[in-house]
Amino acid sequence: MPDAPTGRLIIVGTGIRTTGQLTVEAIAWMKAADVLFHVVADPVALEVISLLRTDHTIDLREYYAEGKLRRESYEDMADAIAAKVAEGYVVCVALYGHPGVFARVPYLAIDRVRAQGNPAQMLPAVSAEDCLYAELLVDPGMGCAQYEATNFLQHNHVADPTIHLLLWQIGMLGDWTHRQSRDPERNMALLVEKLSRWYPLDHRVTVYQASVHLDTPPRADEVALSELPRAWVGASCTLHIPPARQFVRDDEFADRIERVN
Ligand SMILES: C[S@@+](CC[C@H](N)C(=O)[O-])C[C@H]1O[C@@H](n2cnc3c(N)ncnc32)[C@H](O)[C@@H]1O
Repeated sequence: MPDAPTGRLIIVGTGIRTTGQLTVEAIAWMKAADVLFHVVADPVALEVISLLRTDHTIDLREYYAEGKLRRESYEDMADAIAAKVAEGYVVCVALYGHPGVFARVPYLAIDRVRAQGNPAQMLPAVSAEDCLYAELLVDPGMGCAQYEATNFLQHNHVADPTIHLLLWQIGMLGDWTHRQSRDPERNMALLVEKLSRWYPLDHRVTVYQASVHLDTPPRADEVALSELPRAWVGASCTLHIPPARQFVRDDEFADRIERVN
């Protein structure tokens, strides 16, 4: 008796700038899969997908709707992906950036598919964070914390002003639906008030938008923290806050490790 068809899920990233960041391995899976789901952020990536294949491609953005909670859209997307795997198809999901960085759907889909007893795997890719390190010359090894911006505002997180801080989804601050923040100036003023616990108001921060096309330079608008509510912040921007103070020596452990060595 022939084996029953076995579904399989492969999640790949297309990078932030498709040209140059889409890997050969990701292309191979995008072509070979029975079904390709995708969420990509720019026309070049969409064109690449249409060149790779013309059949069985599904744009997951159709699950978003104005005013619908993003959380609900993500559940619907994961259900659709898992259903195809359960039918026995090899399914590829291609998401812009790194598929596992600040993305909910891949984790939900992998959980569902593994619960079916089918294999699911994620491949690494270039995220907005990687572009930021290169384009703003930030070395995360000097210490770098990162949060989703609304999550940072809503919870009791503590910023460390001696290391870099990245705040993701700054353009959607205070809004869990699929649209830009409805009152960006007010929400940004709240963020500035919270950040002023650790940073002086004249501290320079950067609203960063990575280059998506070869011929479009990255955008890096440096403003004083106090100016943030009036600054331009696009939907795909990330906020970089550089350190405001030097590291503080931990006398106890520094002395002990120096004595040992
Ligand atoms: C849902 S997350 C997806 C991140 C993506 N998976 C990645 O690997 O970068 C969307 C957030 O990523 C960041 N982002 C996406 N594209 C960006 C770009 N071109 N420049 C800077 N940040 C970007 C922004 O913080 C944006 O709100």
